[in-house]
Amino acid sequence: MTEPLKIGLAGLGTVGRGVVKIIEKNGNDIARKIGRPLKVTAVSARDRTKDRGIDISDYTWFDDPIDLAKTGDIDVFVELMGGEDGPAYEATICALERGLDVVTANKAMIAHHANELATLAESKNASFLYEAAVAGGIPIVKALKESLAGNEIHRVYGILNGTCNYMLTRMQNEGKPFDEILKEAQAEGYAEADPSFDIGGIDAAHKLALLTTLSFGTQTSFKDVYIEGIEAITLTDIMAADDLGYRIKLLGVAVKTPEGIEQRVHPALVPKSSAIGEVSGVTNCVCADGDFVGKVMLVGPGAGEGATASSIIGDIIDTAYENKGHVFTLPAKELTPYVQAPLRAHEGGYYVRLALKDLPGTFAAIATRMAEFGISLESIVQRPVADKITPVKEDEIQPASVVIITHQTTERSVSQALKAIEQDGHIAGEPNMIRIERL
Ligand code: NAP
Ligand code: HSE
Repeated sequence: MTEPLKIGLAGLGTVGRGVVKIIEKNGNDIARKIGRPLKVTAVSARDRTKDRGIDISDYTWFDDPIDLAKTGDIDVFVELMGGEDGPAYEATICALERGLDVVTANKAMIAHHANELATLAESKNASFLYEAAVAGGIPIVKALKESLAGNEIHRVYGILNGTCNYMLTRMQNEGKPFDEILKEAQAEGYAEADPSFDIGGIDAAHKLALLTTLSFGTQTSFKDVYIEGIEAITLTDIMAADDLGYRIKLLGVAVKTPEGIEQRVHPALVPKSSAIGEVSGVTNCVCADGDFVGKVMLVGPGAGEGATASSIIGDIIDTAYENKGHVFTLPAKELTPYVQAPLRAHEGGYYVRLALKDLPGTFAAIATRMAEFGISLESIVQRPVADKITPVKEDEIQPASVVIITHQTTERSVSQALKAIEQDGHIAGEPNMIRIERL
């Protein structure tokens, strides 16, 4: 057997630990598969004394990950610290400058620096691999770069954040409040260091920006992703959607249009019985529509120690094969400039939840306003409130929670109708409007 492939691991948290565990458990089998053992030789983290449940005594310790990237006795630098800038970015640049192959799970860093990192890696003939950065354990990057490369991709979309899907599923199944489930997602190691990246839709947008480049061959443009998170979704919404035959999912959608690219991340109602509606827990799914293959859907764990580390190991193995492809589907220099399509107002049905003053004639007034803006209603029902609410004062009337499902209409019409209803004085709180997607 030939020399081991020497790995430098910067970051020994959820994912870094997982990488060490896979090599400890499956190292012999991996060596037989690739004809070369994988060997961690050097590591870096913030706290050398932390109990991580893994033995790191045989590895050379670096206090500074940049030193590790610059001077470590390694063949591949594995960046698992996170953060779009700072030590992760600086160490990655140093490793690539040195001509080392780099493997990372850091979608924030790539979404912000994709074009620069890809250009540098290709100029140094170094691999820059990031399967774990998009949908955790699902091999979608490799699928788009290699297996589906014979197709023109028109649309790529899916459930791209494990934490959000885990939270929405647990709220649905157990009726527990948002904050409690978020703590559980953090304890499971699914959430980002700053969980507002998950629930605010930013993490999904980072991944979508990479999928866009991989699918359409355009330069990465994270700033052009329209983003809404799941912060406004309440138990009342989840239960109402369930009764009406829908699930609420945080979706990421990128579409190639004649005017340019449309990228959006937002919550959506999807039919319960649809394939995407059935994706639950930390599971992600990514769908790609290709001109010859049709629709391909990959489903699997989107976050967590084992799943994410599995993708990291897959990339490390690729570096051992020395199969230096492009960082994206096209060489970095040939990626076309990103052109933003005007965000097409979603045309379809809408779910609207209103806190209405519970007075006679209010329903009729709402229906009339909706009709004035050409909106036809599929249903309008008063719902029990499933969330804890602040009690109103004794002399005030408790607002009623009313859920409206519209037939196909435009976002503009719904917004205008809601504004008029608000001006009529019927609404007691912020309306919540969620798009209905039939993907
Ligand atoms: P984590 O558990 O917070 O671990 C981060 C690690 O980086 C820790 O070991 C930390 O050291 C180390 N670190 C942070 N700043 C450092 C610095 N300045 N110098 C040296 N070491 C430093 O994070 P994670 O969940 O493993 O995520 C790592 C990366 O993978 C992120 O980019 C994340 O977005 C991505 N990712 C995570 C998942 C997931 O499910 N967790 C899935 C896909 C992608 P200490 O341990 O000493 O504090
Ligand atoms: N925080 C991310 C998620 C990790 O929950 O999907 C995987 O990228």
